[in-house]
Amino acid sequence: MTDTALDISLTVNGERIAERVDARTTLVDFLRESLALTGSHVGCEHGVCGACTVRVNGEIVRGCLMLAAQCDGATVETIEGLSDAGEVADLQTAFEQRNALQCGFCTPGMVLTAQDLLKRNGTPTRDEIREHISGNYCRCTGYQAIVDAVESVAQTRAGGKT
Ligand code: FES
Ligand code: FES
Repeated sequence: MTDTALDISLTVNGERIAERVDARTTLVDFLRESLALTGSHVGCEHGVCGACTVRVNGEIVRGCLMLAAQCDGATVETIEGLSDAGEVADLQTAFEQRNALQCGFCTPGMVLTAQDLLKRNGTPTRDEIREHISGNYCRCTGYQAIVDAVESVAQTRAGGKT
């Protein structure tokens, strides 16, 4: 740790955390390396691929473009938190059933982004789904199965309205 270290406190997946971080540490590196929350992935490291997507104060952000120090006082949620809470269980099941993942590298970010869309717009069109996930790169699936999975969850949620 250098003399640029800062003390921060934040809530991560419902747990209060107090840590000393280097001022230059990105949020995703902090989550992965200090908190062992490795579900958020590091791909491009410059805001393009979406693999590092997490939620800060309810909004999805690129974890590689935000500094951990900027999250002092914030509420951060990662795929681990959403998964443990069951918030995205239907999306996870749909991704699995429809083969919407292969290597899985993009999947945590993709699921967070899909959940963000479905919270804003419960019945998106396929074009709206494509538009919303367009900032999340997938090198494996060709996206068709991902759109199918998100669409099926939207329809089920809209029909079931749990
Ligand atoms: S690693 Fe953050 S957008 Fe690619
Ligand atoms: S499943 Fe491999 S990058 Fe999307």
